[in-house]
Parts: sequence; C-alpha cells; structure tokens
Amino acid sequence: MQVVESVSALRGLLGGQSAIAFVPTMGNLHEGHVTLMREARKRGRIVVVSIFVNRLQFGPQEDFDRYPRTFAADCAKLESEGVDYVFAPDEQVLFPHPQDFFVIPSPQLADILEGEFRPGYFRGVATIVAKLFNIVQPAHAIFGMKDYQQLRVIERMVAQLNMPIAIQPNPTVRAGDGLALSSRNNYLSAAERSEAPNLHRVMRGISVRLQSGERAIAKREAEAALELTGRGWQVDYITVRRQSDLGAQHGAREPLVVLGAARIGKTRLIDSLEVG
Ligand code: PAF
Repeated sequence: MQVVESVSALRGLLGGQSAIAFVPTMGNLHEGHVTLMREARKRGRIVVVSIFVNRLQFGPQEDFDRYPRTFAADCAKLESEGVDYVFAPDEQVLFPHPQDFFVIPSPQLADILEGEFRPGYFRGVATIVAKLFNIVQPAHAIFGMKDYQQLRVIERMVAQLNMPIAIQPNPTVRAGDGLALSSRNNYLSAAERSEAPNLHRVMRGISVRLQSGERAIAKREAEAALELTGRGWQVDYITVRRQSDLGAQHGAREPLVVLGAARIGKTRLIDSLEVG
C-alpha cells in the first residue's frame, strides 16, 4: 500500500488505469468503512481510499477542529484490507486557493433534512467528492447507506454531470445493539452510548409497522420523535420519505425509507432504514 499526498503523484500512479474502485472517507475508520473497502475490492482491480477531513462540509459551529484524526491507525486497517493507494492530501493540496467554485445540488434534494439543519453541507460534500472524482477518475465509487441523503446527492451529481462512475451503495454496518457505526460515536459518553441505540429502535419500529400495512405515517413519526424527546434527545427529524428522491408524498407502492437525525448530549447521530 502506498500513501500519496499530491495530486500529480496520484495521477502519475493511476494514469491509464481503467478499473479503479474508490472509497472517499474522512478517516477515523471503523468496521463500516472496512466493508466499503471490501466492496471496492470486489469491483475494482485497484482500490484507492482518500482520507481528507473536508472543511467545506462543516458549519461554523460544527466539529471540524475536533473531528477525530487517526491517520496511523487508519493506514494499518487499510493495509490489512489490501488497499492499493491511500490519497491523503493536506488542505493546501486540495485548496491551494480558497475554493470559490462549487457543485450546488438542487434545493429540493439538498436543502431538506440534513441540508435544513446543516446549511451548505451538501454543497461542501458534492464539491469535494467532485474534486476527488476528477483526481482519482474511478470507474466505481462506494458510499455507505447510513448517509442516505448524501448517497442520493452523489448519485444525482454523477448522473446529471455525466460522470462515468458507477455509484455503489453499501449497507449500514451496526453494532450488536443496532447503533449504526459512525466516527461520531466516539464522542458519546458511556451513558450516551447505552442510550444511542434507541434512535435505531424507534426508526425500526416505524419500519416494521409500515411493512405490516400501517398508513398513519405522520402519527408514527410524531410518536417516535416524542419518545426520543422524552428520553432526553433533541430530535431534528424522524421521517418517512420516498427512497428515490426523499420526497414526502407517499404513493401506494413507492419504496420508502425511514430517516432520522437527533442529538444525544452534544453528539448528533443520523440513521436510515429502507422499508422492506
Ligand atoms: O461520508 C463522508 O465521510 C464524507 O461526507 C465524504 C464523502 C468523504 C466527503 O467528505
């Protein structure tokens, strides 16, 4: 495995390769990320992973400075997964000048849900992912389904900007108690960690009821939010949306997804569960 820090060096190493599978990350890798690497290995002959904590996707009050940076441990994991190249640029490499060109996803998709609570978030994500795609030029890119809205934004960006990249969604990896693995779980105190699986539990409750024919969706969403609030959470949203575009109108047979975001203590957790 080779760690590469500059764009020109990476281009030199990858130039002409057609079967690259790419996993963009912000590091602090956990078992969920490891499954992304394994999926990449199935799809590409060369596996490239990027580690870059992207300032553009953090709001001014968010955790950019304290986001966990664990580069040595990350590299050990990537090495044991047989990753070929780790692209780990510093900020000067990706932003030699202040970034003033952006990929701006449609408000209908990106200004709702996460975008409502984290203004500019998907502009930051789409811009950095577009830059990384231009640098790595992968044939495949793998994204986890926990960040469901991110996945939809990237899929639409690739389709609408005619990027020749197949986006591969990868199922959420969970701890035994249901909590979706996330780098931000590291922020949880012991008490918060034992409370945290309740986000998944209430979302699963909605999903199970939908599968058994429940139609009172708004009532179930409100009950779930109320339950979490009663347990000390600050709920941003617990909502059922169309899988295809995250719109709120529920047609009779449309595939649905339960999406949730809530804060326990100072830590904001998100989760998603496709119904069915
Ligand atoms: O999902 C993430 O870790 C980030 O949003 C990504 C895709 C690496 C862009 O910074």
